[in-house]
Amino acid sequence: MSKIRVAILGATGAVGQRFVQLLENHPWFEVKALTGSDRSVGQTYGEACRWVLPGQIPAYARDIPILPTEPGLDAQLTFSALPSDQAKIFEPQLAQAGYVVSSNASAHRMWEDVPLLIPEVNPDHTALTTVQRQKRDWKGFIVTNPNCTSTGLTIALRALHDAFTLKKVFAVSMQALSGAGYPGVPSLDILDNVIPYISGEEEKVETEPQKMLGTLAGDRIEFLTTQISAHTNRVAVTDGHMLCTSVEFAQRVSPEEATTALAGFHAPAIVASLPSAPATVIEVASAPDRPQPRRDRDTGNGMTTVVGRIRVDPLFHIKFVSFSHNTIRGAAGGSILNAELLVAQGLL
Ligand SMILES: NC(=O)c1ccc[n+]([C@@H]2O[C@H](COP(=O)([O-])OP(=O)(O)OC[C@H]3O[C@@H](n4cnc5c(N)ncnc54)[C@H](OP(=O)(O)O)[C@@H]3O)[C@@H](O)[C@H]2O)c1
Repeated sequence: MSKIRVAILGATGAVGQRFVQLLENHPWFEVKALTGSDRSVGQTYGEACRWVLPGQIPAYARDIPILPTEPGLDAQLTFSALPSDQAKIFEPQLAQAGYVVSSNASAHRMWEDVPLLIPEVNPDHTALTTVQRQKRDWKGFIVTNPNCTSTGLTIALRALHDAFTLKKVFAVSMQALSGAGYPGVPSLDILDNVIPYISGEEEKVETEPQKMLGTLAGDRIEFLTTQISAHTNRVAVTDGHMLCTSVEFAQRVSPEEATTALAGFHAPAIVASLPSAPATVIEVASAPDRPQPRRDRDTGNGMTTVVGRIRVDPLFHIKFVSFSHNTIRGAAGGSILNAELLVAQGLL
């Protein structure tokens, strides 16, 4: 099979670099174009990009010229790592022109006809792409992945909701610096410090899981009505978001039952066989002091959600700690997995 030609939009940023890294030697996708802002257009990727990931810029990308973000890119599929204000302008233009846009940006996540996707959680929501094309008379379409903090939380909640029915969720995050992009949070603000505010984040964590855990009803999603309360905090960790979560169910659930549901959670067969799907969707850590960012961020090549400390909550029913890599599972890796699902479903 010849590879699908892809472009990365916003290729020089924290998420864009992850795309460049993860798409090297991808079995189905071949990077043909990279875009950047006016600052970078006209330079090669090697000249424009301050590489912040370990190692060097992959050789295949170094001499690719940075193009403006506009139709005319030599690609069928575009992976968007654009800032949200730019995504708002350019993603619809590209979808209208016939491109499939797999986006990380928040700009279109809550549009009624745009799937907000985690393949292991709601693969059937891709049906909205047909609605979107018809309604907007677009040749292409947009699919989105959730905010990096919503991602790991929603995967854990899917396993628990399937088994026990969620009633209330209370979550407190400790979010890595790479979640703020590059250069991100000034060092003098974050060293020896915790910042208890991330603009717009709590609203996203409180609503995005409701859409993903909702039910496809014809041409729309009926949101899950379970209430979620979130506190979001920035901490001095490079990669990986951790959440401490308390959950109330329709009936009392023991830690052992919750552990069985989390550890036994499997992706649907069509998802499990995708190239970027982790072998284990949720790993339950048995050590009492795990998960931890430094020790658990590479689990499943950064695509596995690690859950630990599953115990009784005296206010709710169960409390636990979850961990997920924000620029892999919560951004570029998640977006690539979404596109792989579209291929497997015959939508791309
Ligand atoms: N970081 C995460 O963990 C994470 C997780 C999930 C979702 N997201 C979302 O992913 C998107 C990217 O985030 P990030 O963390 O990678 O941000 P970032 O490090 O600030 O990078 C943003 C990049 O966008 C580029 N850009 C700006 N305007 C552009 C345009 N018109 N065309 C093409 N490129 C343009 C800039 O390129 P130049 O270098 O050329 O100026 C910059 O490198 C955001 O919407 C963010 O909310 C991030």
